[in-house]
This record gives sequence, C-alpha cells and structure tokens, in this order.
Amino acid sequence: MPRPRILVTRRWPEAVERRLCALFDTTLNTDDHRLSADELRAALRAFDAVLPTVSDRLDASVLDAGLFTVDAARARILANYGVGYSHIDIDAARACGLVVTNTPGVLTDCTADLALTLMLMVARRAGEGEREVRAGQWSGWRPTHLVGTRLSGKTLGIIGMGRIALAVARRAQHGFGMKVVYFNRSPVAPAQLAGLETSACARIEDVLAQADFVSLHCPGGGANRHLIDAARLAAMPPHAILINTARGDVVDEAALVDALQHGRLAGAGLDVFENEPQVHPGLLALENVVLLPHLGSATRETREAMGMRVVDNLVAFFGGKRAPDQVS
Ligand code: DGY
Repeated sequence: MPRPRILVTRRWPEAVERRLCALFDTTLNTDDHRLSADELRAALRAFDAVLPTVSDRLDASVLDAGLFTVDAARARILANYGVGYSHIDIDAARACGLVVTNTPGVLTDCTADLALTLMLMVARRAGEGEREVRAGQWSGWRPTHLVGTRLSGKTLGIIGMGRIALAVARRAQHGFGMKVVYFNRSPVAPAQLAGLETSACARIEDVLAQADFVSLHCPGGGANRHLIDAARLAAMPPHAILINTARGDVVDEAALVDALQHGRLAGAGLDVFENEPQVHPGLLALENVVLLPHLGSATRETREAMGMRVVDNLVAFFGGKRAPDQVS
C-alpha cells in the first residue's frame, strides 16, 4: 500500500523531519519559504496531509470546499505544528472534511518562561539598557539610571487561565511572591489551581483594574479579536504593563500604541503581533516596549517535542484511529 503523501510547510527540527521521512512519503520545504495561498491550495490537491504552522493562513479562500468536490483534492488532515490554530478557519476545514490537530502540552513551560522573560525585561528596562550599551552610550553607574519596577509582591492579572497561564501563575507566585487574579470564561477546576492562591474575577475589567502586570493567554481569532481594545486598555492603571504571548490580534495594536505614547500604560512586552511578521511602526519607535519575534516555544527541546507530537497525530490518523490532539 502506498505511504501517505505529506507536505511540511516549513523547515522543522532535523530529528522530526527524519522521522517523517521514515514513516511517510514526505515533501519538505527545503528553502523554508512561506507558502503562498496558491501553493497551499495546490498542496491540498496533491497531498494526503498538510502540516502547517502559524505562518500559513488557511482561511476560507484557501480551504474552499469546491476544491474538494470539483477538483477532488486529496488532503484529509491538517496536522498543525503549534497549539494555537486561529490561522486555520475551522468551519471551512470542517466543510472540506478535513481533520485538524494541534500540539498541546509540550510548549507550556517554554511559553510561560517567555512570558516571565517579557515581564522582567519590561519591568527592569532590560531592552533599553541593552540598546544603550550596544550603542556605546552607557556613561556608568548612577542611582537614577534606568530605574524600573520590581515584580516581587505585585499583582499579576491573567486573561484566559489555561495550561500556559497556570504555568505563568506558578512561576510568578512561587518565584516572585506575586498575587494572582484571573478571568476565565468557564470555571477552572480546583485541581488545576492546586498549590496556587488565586482569585477569579467575573469580568475582564475587574482583572485589568487591579493588576500591575496583565498577561494574555486566550486563543486568538473570532470573538477574541481586539479583546483588549481602547476601552479595556483605559481600564488598566497607568503604571501597568501588558504582556502578550498568546496571539497578536487579541490586542488592538493601534490602541495600544496610543495608550503607550500618551502614558496611559507604562509598558508592554509582546511576542506576537496583529500582522506578523509586520510590526506596528508606532511600537518600533517606543522605548517602553519589548518586542520579540514569536519565540514562545522556541527552544530545541520544545520545537522537537512539537514536531514529534504532530507525527504521533499522523501515525494515529493514518492508522485508522482518532488523532490524540484532534481539535476538529
Ligand atoms: C503555538 O504553538 O501556538 C505557537 O504560538 C506557535 O504557533
């Protein structure tokens, strides 16, 4: 029986690509270019499985059910490399009869580490300091130089209390003695909160009003687009710092720039952006923001584990079982 034909849309860690090649008839994206919408449509026609990442926009114009009925596209599964899948139009995928999987669990710690990295960098003005040293403009130690704020004892507000948020809360509370308040759409099971002292808020505004740091951990897309808009930014105290390691479109970037420029917010640490890889020019001009290029899961160990998780999903799916991480 011929092996399933699969397309990997970007370069993946070597060990994972080797395993994919050993198990499937695998086509790799050897020059790591970002696939165009036409290339993605062609992939759906030619391959049994397409393995996208957050850099592939699989919207309804690409996931066109017509492709599947008229042109007899052969794809049966989108095995996403990543936990977030708001770049895939799930309703459109369903209409095409495609199964969609993701990679939960394996990137929790690394993404939580990065949220803390951003909190510390913004609070301690590490980006500004680094730029100053590299520019040869450091004139020496002085008591008033680049004075920031500490994390210890402050209040961390979390929006979306899933796996990554819980890992952030543990680091913040156990490492820095921070008080943790959160908003989650549905009640969080007490077992998930074991070992933490937290208080749940009924409204996002209640979190924003009392937090010194706000960390976003909800999915992007749909109703969460611009969840943090001008009105919600105005609900934060001016000394507060906003951290986003979730999805860029959760924040209205233009409103954020305006709040930062006018001192209505003290700073922001962003790993994700509304129109990646473009970054709002207003953010680039600000000193009180730290900007990272979507590095949340970017450790050797985690990127390899994400890939292996995709392979496990494919093995189950093509073995006639339900993929363990099927989301649709
Ligand atoms: C994730 O897993 O969602 C990361 O943001 C990369 O897509």
